[in-house]
Amino acid sequence: MTAPFDVDATLAALTLEEKASLLSGHDDWYTETIERPADGVHVPAIEVGDGPHGLRKETGVDMVWVPATGFPTASAMGASWDRDLVRRVAAAIGEEARAEGVQVVLGPGVNMKRSPLCGRNFEYFSEDPLLSGELGAAYVEGVQSVGVGTSLKHFAANNQEIERTRISVEADERTLRETYLAAFERAVKQANPWTVMCSYNRLHGVHASENRWLLTDVLRDEWGYDGAVVSDWNAVHHRVAALRAGLDLEMPGTGGVTDAEVVAAVRAGELDEAVVDAAARRVLTLVARTYPGPDLVDGPVMDLGVAPGDRLTPEQLTLLRADEHHALAREAAAGAVTLLRNEPRAAGPAAGVGAVLPLDALAVGRVAVVGAFAEHARIQGGGSSGVDPTRVDSALVELRAALGDRVGYAPGYVHTPKDAYQDDLRAYLDAHGATFVDDGTGPARRSAALAEALRLAAAAERVAAGPLSPAAVRLADEAVAAAEGADVVVAFVGLPLAFEQEADDRTTLALPADQVALLGRLADLRERTGAALVVVLSNGAAVTLDPWHDRVDAIVEAWLPGQAGAGAVVDVLLGRVNPSGKVAETFPLAVEDAPGYVTWTGERGTVLYGEGVFIGYRWYDALRRQVRYPFGHGLSYTTFAYSGLEVEVLDADAGDVRVRCTVTNTGPVAGREVVQLYVGDPDAAVRRPVRELRGFEKVTLEPGASAVVTFTLVSRDFAYWDVAVDRGDGRFGAWRREGGEFVVEVGASSRDVRLAATLELPDDPEVPPLVPDEDLLRLGASRFTQGYRA
Ligand code: BGC
Repeated sequence: MTAPFDVDATLAALTLEEKASLLSGHDDWYTETIERPADGVHVPAIEVGDGPHGLRKETGVDMVWVPATGFPTASAMGASWDRDLVRRVAAAIGEEARAEGVQVVLGPGVNMKRSPLCGRNFEYFSEDPLLSGELGAAYVEGVQSVGVGTSLKHFAANNQEIERTRISVEADERTLRETYLAAFERAVKQANPWTVMCSYNRLHGVHASENRWLLTDVLRDEWGYDGAVVSDWNAVHHRVAALRAGLDLEMPGTGGVTDAEVVAAVRAGELDEAVVDAAARRVLTLVARTYPGPDLVDGPVMDLGVAPGDRLTPEQLTLLRADEHHALAREAAAGAVTLLRNEPRAAGPAAGVGAVLPLDALAVGRVAVVGAFAEHARIQGGGSSGVDPTRVDSALVELRAALGDRVGYAPGYVHTPKDAYQDDLRAYLDAHGATFVDDGTGPARRSAALAEALRLAAAAERVAAGPLSPAAVRLADEAVAAAEGADVVVAFVGLPLAFEQEADDRTTLALPADQVALLGRLADLRERTGAALVVVLSNGAAVTLDPWHDRVDAIVEAWLPGQAGAGAVVDVLLGRVNPSGKVAETFPLAVEDAPGYVTWTGERGTVLYGEGVFIGYRWYDALRRQVRYPFGHGLSYTTFAYSGLEVEVLDADAGDVRVRCTVTNTGPVAGREVVQLYVGDPDAAVRRPVRELRGFEKVTLEPGASAVVTFTLVSRDFAYWDVAVDRGDGRFGAWRREGGEFVVEVGASSRDVRLAATLELPDDPEVPPLVPDEDLLRLGASRFTQGYRA
């Protein structure tokens, strides 16, 4: 099926009212239709649906979703460091979207993790813009390869959920360019998402939806973006201002109210009709793009026609390729599982001999599985990314299948899943003696649900801080009794849904108090009986691991691994999969250590990004601060040796450099290693991070095998954003590669550098010389910020 209309001819035939109608949705999920058969005008509506971790298509009944494959969330995919895996997962999500008649998937999210407390960090890949941008681009490529559009979100600087619709981010331009825009820039330039979604927040006092600097000057004029800019849901405050700024499609629709505002503004001479035409053209192009030629896909977009609330029939599951996608979800989760710690047994006959993991399925004795997440897996976070999964695996079932009646089980703490899609939060609160007050009013379901989530989350924090309920104490007692005499205790813990939700942030990085107490009890048992204690974590973002960390033998970070994640975890526990995930976000020792802590979450409507470009490992490295697990850390069941670093300047003026090294699997089993390349500029006119990720490759090696890994660096990899460069067109700022010495490091994590070298590069001849400091003082800082102030 080809595009059902010619964009130019259609645009020319449309009235002003019709063009304006294209600029806002028909409702929550559809764009507007225009039908004038007599004149040959036919613009079909397209349907958009949430992602990014699986399709979330509404059935027609508010908040009831069509079942779809729930893949690992973005933070898990971030830990995979695997472009190809992300691409394949995204293609599967695109296929399901096609099968359900959805033409644009609302993802991926490439916002930076400024603070580990952001409630939506599970929806974002990393604290590093290169990793986020690369994986974001891979996601876009995957979905769009099957003829379905994406929406790169949330543009930009949406880094907290508290006050997300009004908070004004105050960040200097260098910080924005190097940190908060860089992943968007990479994904836009590399993969050309068919839409970009603006964020809710304000930037320097101007809502992103009305921010011309963001949506037009940077996105379109500088980066060359030619797709459509869509609003986040209800992020538009002044439709005409947003249109002028470059916001094409307002979502959801407003029942024609804002269309009329657009028409009136044109008629009053306040808005040039050419602006309406340009936006309408971009929406028409999007609609046309979603009807690709038959060479691209297996067939036209179809609609399985799932009735509200129905499970899928076997035929529908086949059309969705549900089994295949479930297997892919398991592979994806396995690629993300991150082995944080793996020590030799502390006591018993096997003390000191080899690491505790993997468990030997033949030799292991009684295994006590503790923790309700083993039975009811935590697979995803709360909010608009929540998928109604086609099925959900259980680690308990998988472990019993492998180890039979050697497996015992106790839930250990209160966890009350309503279904695979969400927890029963009321029951959760009841069990903790917390009160939930439902005022029963609420103008709209959505905001009522949101308010409920906020209240519940607040209550959940009390759970973390308060005394344990009698139920929690009883469950812990039962778990310890069940673990008595076990050879190995595997404790499944992590964050309940109420801790990781859209529209709310965490106030603590700790696990819930009942789980922390349980781990303490199990650690006592370990010391008393010599049982090995393995902890499996399910959480979408960094947590603190005290006071129990040093009292356990192994820690497996499963993340929020999607519907097939439990199987992947068991594969890793039993050594059927050699773990290869690496944390894509630093695990600090304490929340107070985290970047931006003192300004988080702002005050009086404004949040100052005073830490500048120093977020994530850039922050901890600058402060030489100890962390629990550094960016890039992850263990394997094998070992890797790094050798033969070669740094070759290919073209000094252009800044082209080739870096090579050899990685060898020096251990007993096949494994995968994420080789990380960092660059530092120790001597520059501005303060720069000690090291910044500039390349990564995931290599697969048989025991004894070696691979040569090659990275190509370009000038931008050595550059910073210099706000003082005069562009000659009244604007300031450009990427500057300041000549001098650079440090190149290759390693297994940001704190496990194995090889290092220095190189010299000259100043970039394309960029005007540095403005001397004394001249800068005379120029006045406001000159450099005029570009992005509205
Ligand atoms: C979220 C977006 C989402 C949209 C549609 C918004 O509240 O911020 O990420 O795509 O809703 O559900």
